[in-house]
Amino acid sequence: MASVLDFIDANGKRFEEELFDLLRIPSVSTDSSKNDDVKKAAAFLHAQLEQMGLENVKTFPTKKHPIVYGEYLKAGNDKPTVLIYGHYDVQPPDPLELWESEPFTPTVKDGKVYARGSADDKGQAYIHVKSVESLLKTSGALPVNVKFILEGEEEIGSPNLVPFLKEQKELLACDMVLISDTSMFGKDIPSITYGLRGLAYMEVEVFGPARDLHSGVYGGAVNNPLNVLCEIIAKLKDENGVIQIPGFYDKVRLLTPSERDAYKELPFDEEAYKKDLKIDEVYGEEGYSTLERASARPTLDVNGIWGGYQGEGAKTVLPAKAGAKVSMRLVPDQDPHEIAELFQKQVEAIAPKGVKVVVREHHGGQPAVTDLDFYGMKAAAKAFADVYGKEPLFTREGGSIPIVASFKSILGVNSILMGFGLNSDAIHSPNEHFSLEDFHRGIKTSARFLQILGE
Ligand code: BES
Ligand code: ZN
Repeated sequence: MASVLDFIDANGKRFEEELFDLLRIPSVSTDSSKNDDVKKAAAFLHAQLEQMGLENVKTFPTKKHPIVYGEYLKAGNDKPTVLIYGHYDVQPPDPLELWESEPFTPTVKDGKVYARGSADDKGQAYIHVKSVESLLKTSGALPVNVKFILEGEEEIGSPNLVPFLKEQKELLACDMVLISDTSMFGKDIPSITYGLRGLAYMEVEVFGPARDLHSGVYGGAVNNPLNVLCEIIAKLKDENGVIQIPGFYDKVRLLTPSERDAYKELPFDEEAYKKDLKIDEVYGEEGYSTLERASARPTLDVNGIWGGYQGEGAKTVLPAKAGAKVSMRLVPDQDPHEIAELFQKQVEAIAPKGVKVVVREHHGGQPAVTDLDFYGMKAAAKAFADVYGKEPLFTREGGSIPIVASFKSILGVNSILMGFGLNSDAIHSPNEHFSLEDFHRGIKTSARFLQILGE
């Protein structure tokens, strides 16, 4: 056991340099002008898997971005097979002017690497690439069977991975999935995420008069699409933060008393939370704590809104149309398509006459929870304890990794969410960063996990 950890220490600098090479590739999956860069990131990982001695390394093209696969099956049938999943695509870096260093020029400051994708998810996915390499280079073998599946479409809802899972059930057959694409509870507070929220993402457009109008000449006599949109949005929640869509909560699985007790035990500092975000007050559904609101209860949030005049100064105009993007984070057992339908019905029901409302559904995702008694969870907890010197917490998180539910429904397996990021890493924001200390501890934790599973 000592030798693999020594190898990781001895090769730490090289691992960092390689990660930085991956971070230099602007693999923004939603931006089609970056398609070649997404391919480059896939090729980089393909080469890595091949060089470290995995077999059957393949890059599967899809309708959009490729899926990289590689395997090691020599541990034998009596050992478990772990499918390691990660994503090499990243969110757009905008707004660029708020970055203190270039988003695709990895920059180290205070022990953290700053770059788009450093935490979400290149840095975390690469942890497992390097742990498997370290195990192979020190003992020439792996303690368990391993399959890698690295995708380039997570940030756009994994549209081609779900069909791939269905087509390649045999290739991907495994006993569990290992994913690092979540956060630790806090610095030096390792945690295993056992629940993720789902997502229904909607777009609402409101169309009024045939053209923009003078707000003095027509204002008061013609309904204003931007006003209507705001009224509709305001009616979707009451003053206690309860979502006002009939049927919305019907399938929400309530927290059990013991789950609620477990939430209370978590070392959460609400004052520090407010201070970090520079807010005076937290907000949310009455009767629930901040942690419960942010991970175990569903939400409805406007992500963007547009219409009318946004330029400098004032322009007196009654806009002809307005639009908004609205996301709803979902919890078990809510279904994204059902919720999208309920949303559409309600928006149409409250829309006034005199305007036309169009509601569209974007990509979504199912929520997921993993059984805490699963043996893989216990192995993960032991690995964390060995490397971090403390038992991990078990937490639920508010973000979404839609493929987790598909791993369960299509491949029939649990996912172990071994996150090494922090909520303060600014994922999806300017100045995204990832702690290099946790990059190294992550590699060790991953290696220990595979060793423990093989024992
Ligand atoms: N890594 C995140 C999800 C995440 C972040 C989970 C923090 C737990 C804690 C992932 O890459 C992501 O951003 N997912 C999207 C999914 C969406 C595009 C379907 C999300 O949650 O918005
Ligand atoms: Zn993300």
